Amino acid sequence: MAHFVEKLITTPSAVRQDTSPVRKPAPDAPSSRRVTLVTGAAGGIGQALCRRVLQAGDRLIALDHDAAALQGLAAALAEQGVSAGDLARLHPLVADVTDCAALGEKVAAVAADIGPVDVLVSNVGAARGPTLRKTTPQDWQADIHLNLNGAFHCVEAVRNTMIERRSGQLVLIGSVNALTTLGHPAYSAAKAALVSYTRSLAMELGSFGIRANIVLPGTVKTPAWQARADKNPQVFEQLKKWYPLGDFATPDDVADAVLFLVSPAARVITGVALPVDAGLMSGIRPMASEITVEEY
Ligand SMILES: NC(=O)c1ccc[n+]([C@@H]2O[C@H](COP(=O)([O-])OP(=O)(O)OC[C@H]3O[C@@H](n4cnc5c(N)ncnc54)[C@H](O)[C@@H]3O)[C@@H](O)[C@H]2O)c1
Repeated sequence: MAHFVEKLITTPSAVRQDTSPVRKPAPDAPSSRRVTLVTGAAGGIGQALCRRVLQAGDRLIALDHDAAALQGLAAALAEQGVSAGDLARLHPLVADVTDCAALGEKVAAVAADIGPVDVLVSNVGAARGPTLRKTTPQDWQADIHLNLNGAFHCVEAVRNTMIERRSGQLVLIGSVNALTTLGHPAYSAAKAALVSYTRSLAMELGSFGIRANIVLPGTVKTPAWQARADKNPQVFEQLKKWYPLGDFATPDDVADAVLFLVSPAARVITGVALPVDAGLMSGIRPMASEITVEEY
């Protein structure tokens, strides 16, 4: 009987049939007991997320496909001021988010060791084709697979245990490219689709006490910009004029927004697409100036 009940709870079809309402969102677990999974952990924004998550007292599964970079992650975080005590809660995990089956197995194995994932920050992302004319069908498929399917695979890896436990936090890292056209068409299409996917997650999983939100960064100086900075060393200075606040978000700014979204302070915020973009999506000041023939 117990086995039958357990099977009922864990099979996806039973999950779909379980419509018993959760009257109030489950209170967020105390930060010190959380297990947070960050993907793309060795990258620019990933490292800031890791630092903030460890310093908040969580156990951290730091996932990346770059084994060498993951190996150096503890040392890099120590250099950024993370204490040895906080680093003791770091669990590196080498995995590729584009491989759904292997990813699920690896996340399940580490969760069996340190506990089920309470918080997922799906942060892996990258862009290939900068323009439509430079985007081959292979580039298109690779960008959609990494940025859209990759996030779906990460959610799949944690969704059922969150449903069983009737609590969980999902944060996807999107981009302002989801909202307007700034180049990299396949990447942008994937990021736009993630906004819709986030809303589906929020709507469908809310009754299980699970929240889902997406953060949309504007320009953030990270290694992802290296090739462009090599091509045009002035790229960051030139870009600043488009940002109403006159500067960009840092990786820490993005991490802070994520930490807020997974905190009890955001307990009724779900399905939200939050730009972290120094005002970029609020309007284009140089164009407004030309339209009104006024100084701004
Ligand atoms: N930097 C920006 O200006 C900016 C702007 C908007 C949105 N974003 C988004 O922020 C997120 C992080 O970007 P970043 O600038 O820190 O990038 P980054 O290149 O510094 O880091 C990305 C990390 O993801 C890892 N990764 C790549 N493919 C993977 C895979 N298949 N499986 C597992 N790990 C993989 C890489 O090894 C790397 O460590 C991305 O989703 C990106 O689209 C960045």
